[in-house]
Amino acid sequence: MTDTWHRLAAESDIAEGRMQAFDIEGRDVVVCHSKEGWFALDNICSHAYARMSEGRLRGCRLICPLHGASFDVRDGSVLGAPATTPLAVHRLRLVDGHVEVALGAG
Ligand code: FES
Repeated sequence: MTDTWHRLAAESDIAEGRMQAFDIEGRDVVVCHSKEGWFALDNICSHAYARMSEGRLRGCRLICPLHGASFDVRDGSVLGAPATTPLAVHRLRLVDGHVEVALGAG
């Protein structure tokens, strides 16, 4: 975990219901703009190897494109099999209309 905040995008770049992947210090992270707000999580599924950003975002449910596991974007918890391990979450803040993320839950 670091305390370095990375400015990734303008809020207006990612509409509600959309998500976008970013490389942060070599880590693949997905930023989700859900109806419940903004969240950042690891972008690699905890089940096998798939990029969550290539799946779907339905409300607060992030759905893996490969085998369909789903996770809660608010805390990374597993909502649906076959994954059993939560996705790591990262700190996210909105500053001056921009999305900033720092690795780690803080
Ligand atoms: S890789 Fe995501 S559910 Fe299997």
